[in-house]
Amino acid sequence: MTGEDQPRMVVASTRGQLQVARKPLRGRVAVVMTMGALHDGHAELVRQARQVADSVIVTIIVNPLQFGVGEDLDCYPRTLEADLSLCEAEGADLVFTPTPDVVCPREAVVRVSAGSLGTVLEGAARPGHFDGVLTVVLKLVHLTQPDVALFGQKDAQQLAAIRRMVDDLDVPVSVVAVPTVREPDGLALSSRNRFLSAQDRPTALLLSQALQLRDPEAGRALFVGTEAHLDYLERVDSTTFQVAPDGDLLVVAAKVGGTRLIDNLPLKGR
Ligand code: PAJ
Repeated sequence: MTGEDQPRMVVASTRGQLQVARKPLRGRVAVVMTMGALHDGHAELVRQARQVADSVIVTIIVNPLQFGVGEDLDCYPRTLEADLSLCEAEGADLVFTPTPDVVCPREAVVRVSAGSLGTVLEGAARPGHFDGVLTVVLKLVHLTQPDVALFGQKDAQQLAAIRRMVDDLDVPVSVVAVPTVREPDGLALSSRNRFLSAQDRPTALLLSQALQLRDPEAGRALFVGTEAHLDYLERVDSTTFQVAPDGDLLVVAAKVGGTRLIDNLPLKGR
């Protein structure tokens, strides 16, 4: 289609606008949920969504439920104009970009619990984080009514918790995982990378370099005497996130110049 036949991307910011814009979407509908500050990792999710579905919805909400006290909710990057351009360039049909109070109009009394997945590793470092993620993800599934939802392998524990919620609660959506998109030097793309100073940037490479050693002990040794503060580097089972010597995933988290970074490496053919 060309010219006037080209369907334009619709931007909805209220529940009513979303409902109206969702109705005409045809065929299999995919959703890509984001907190904005979009980069090529998010773009890859939208591209994959186009591959697996006929219509693509992107949601952009900095979800207050998943930020703890003292975390970076207030200074989380907000770049809406650029985000909308990226969505349009990648062929999204509908972008839902409400203010948080539209999605969470009052304090939620009932929330989704990530259970044991919410208390280990990232969950231990960020109490309540995964409950907040799952609660908003479930709300957004209800609001956008997708057939398929795409999530990045970059946030492996989040992906595991979402998969488990979908299984345990019979959420009627297929989950598709998209491999981590990286800078040419190996740094996993993240909205938080923009907080890294020129001095921090080489230090941030330690995460992907340590994973490449494919061994927790050797990986941890790489951090000794560096400017990075390692939180954990463990081999885990990718569905339970319990530490296991024969686990199929290496996960790492470290603070670099005040910015908390995470990364992981699936271990194939272990
Ligand atoms: P956000 O950090 O914006 O990430 C949105 C989606 O993009 C997630 O599925 C995440 O795993 C994926 N993503 C981020 N960086 C990526 C990379 N380098 N390669 C591939 N995929 C990447 O994750 C969230 O937002 C929120 O927790 C959310 C699920 C939207 C709930 O609020």
